[in-house]
Amino acid sequence: MRPWSEIPHLSLRNPLFLASGTWGFGETLPPRVISAAGALVTKGVSLNPRTGNPPPRLSETPCGLINSIGLENPGLSTFRERILPRLLSHGPPVVVNILGESEEEFLDLVRGLAESGVAGFEVNISCPNVKKGGIAFAGDPEGVFRLVRRLREEWKGFLAVKLSPVGPVLEVARAAEEAGASALTCANTYPALSVDLSRGRPRFHQGGLSGPAIKPLTLRLVYELSRKVKVPLIASGGIITGRDAYEYFLCGARAFQVGTATLIDPEAPLRILSELDAFLKSDFSHG
Ligand SMILES: Cc1cc2nc3c(=O)[nH]c(=O)nc-3n(C[C@H](O)[C@H](O)[C@H](O)COP(=O)(O)O)c2cc1C
Repeated sequence: MRPWSEIPHLSLRNPLFLASGTWGFGETLPPRVISAAGALVTKGVSLNPRTGNPPPRLSETPCGLINSIGLENPGLSTFRERILPRLLSHGPPVVVNILGESEEEFLDLVRGLAESGVAGFEVNISCPNVKKGGIAFAGDPEGVFRLVRRLREEWKGFLAVKLSPVGPVLEVARAAEEAGASALTCANTYPALSVDLSRGRPRFHQGGLSGPAIKPLTLRLVYELSRKVKVPLIASGGIITGRDAYEYFLCGARAFQVGTATLIDPEAPLRILSELDAFLKSDFSHG
């Protein structure tokens, strides 16, 4: 059995998702790379346009990248009318990463895209819930349960919850599972900082670390969660080679996402898939 065929509500040709935010809305990768993916997760989309954070927005570390993009995006209507048709034309199922500052905002996004041809949604719970004084959804398992249950009532298709790697991760994972999530994406970036020596202060207010530096951390998270929840886990964290992806499979993931790797090498998804093939042939060749 191929692990990725067990993910409900989504038909995948291969287990590689392009991760949210690292391939723009398709303009930064060659079309043949996009078409070769198993699924496409869009950059985060909110109800209204967001301008994001002022520069600098990126900072390189010896084996990772810190970003502080601030979830810049053109908002639901522009996304639906001008961007989505192009994304759908690539072929792989399109999963829209949604972000909101209230349950209603998430619900409006799902309602607004329900008839648009998308394959499903990935719920970014790292955003602050303004109705709860700004505490991130990811810090509030009960809030996640309520949010996912309401989204599930509205949408019967693929519905993934993208976990934050910090906070009450297990409780949040259990809440999302119980509320009916189809899968959990494990996980988002790690809170991180770097210093601009020329100005004698941190480069940005809030940053998130991605890339090879986080692989061992997220690998452990996937391993721990896979022993405690049954809902399929989609790994996201520092996958640069086929071996990285295979290690995640061995630790319980059923599919995986490639993010920062495409910023280093736009062809990385093709290479990762072919490297992975050699590992999978020995293990999962019977399904
Ligand atoms: C520049 C950049 C932008 C990102 N934007 C989003 C986003 O809009 N929504 C989201 O859920 N995750 C976002 N992420 C997180 C990635 O989707 C991914 O989960 C994370 O970077 C870990 O995977 P990686 O090490 O393969 O990059 C972003 C990451 C980067 C580096």
